[in-house]
Order: sequence, then structure tokens, then C-alpha cells
Amino acid sequence: MPSALELLADEAAGCTLCGLAAGRNTVVFGTGDPDADLMFVGEGPGAEEDRQGIPFVGRSGRLLDRLLAEELGIDRSRCYIANVVKCRPPDNRDPRADEVEACRPYLERQIGLVDPVVIVTLGNFATRLLLDTDTGITKLRGRSYPFGGRQLVPTFHPAAALRGGADVLARMRADLVRAKMLIGAS
Ligand code: URA
Repeated sequence: MPSALELLADEAAGCTLCGLAAGRNTVVFGTGDPDADLMFVGEGPGAEEDRQGIPFVGRSGRLLDRLLAEELGIDRSRCYIANVVKCRPPDNRDPRADEVEACRPYLERQIGLVDPVVIVTLGNFATRLLLDTDTGITKLRGRSYPFGGRQLVPTFHPAAALRGGADVLARMRADLVRAKMLIGAS
């Protein structure tokens, strides 16, 4: 029998709740361990993700995989990875507010079903949505936030680390160590 998460993925696969449905190749629902203690939330699929139907398989994803190995000693199969919007915004533009709102119930149900101990938000979109704030990631990161009985650890999007160099990367590493400590303490 399919799990509730698989049923939700099936539902999302036919979603037409916003205009992004028209331009997508695949709905990029989420990947990884459905019982993970650690869940990552990114922004939205890029071209490669849209082709493969898997989140974070492009350059940002390769960096995320490396950081998972180096700071947490795990590969992606041990965590769950999803995005704020499940369909690729055209030309890699930012997701619009109506698209984020249309997709929000999928993310909320995903979080409830995976039931992680710690959520790491990658970048401004995921962090602002889940913490319900306009403050930017540079100010928000560096600590954890209570989030519905869990802990939320905001960090930079890997694309920002690819652009921003050593300093951004070092802060991302520190945030991942914080997430690891919170899981260990749970
Ligand atoms: N960036 C994201 O935010 N999500 C992906 O899945 C890929 C790149």
C-alpha cells in the first residue's frame, strides 16, 4: 500500500494550482528518507531538477551533497530534501507569491508526514516562508528557531555559497554543524 507521502507525491504530480504547471517537465516533489530526522527545504527546481524530477541535482546539489558528507558524515539518502515550489519557474526566475502560496500546502503536509527533528532552510525563500518574516538570511542564520515542536536552522542557499566564496561556505558549514548537534541532542 502506498504511504501517505507517496499519495501526496501522486497528488502533486498532477497539480495545476498555479501557472508553473504549464512550463514544467516534471513535478519535483522531494527525495530521500521519508522518516528522516533532518529535512532540507530549498527554493524551487532548476533546469536539471526539472529534467530529472529530483531536487538539488545540479551544481547547488553537488555542493549540498559535499557538505552533507563533510559536515554530517551522511549522504542524501539519510535526509529528506524538498523545495518551496515543486515546479520550475521559467528562466530560473524567483517564485512569485501566488506560486509559493499555491504550493505551500504540499510543503506543510510533507513536513508533517516526514516529521523531521530539524529543518534546514536553504536561502531566503524557504527561510522567510517558514519563519514568516521579511528579514534576510544573513541576519537570520547563525541560530536555531523553534518551529512547531521542531528546530529550524536557516542557512544560505548553496547557490549563494557557489557565488559568495569561502566566507559564505564557512558559515553554511557552521549552520550544518548546528543542525547535527540539535539532532544529536534530540
Ligand atoms: N535550487 C533549489 O532551491 N532547489 C533545487 O532543487 C535546485 C536548486
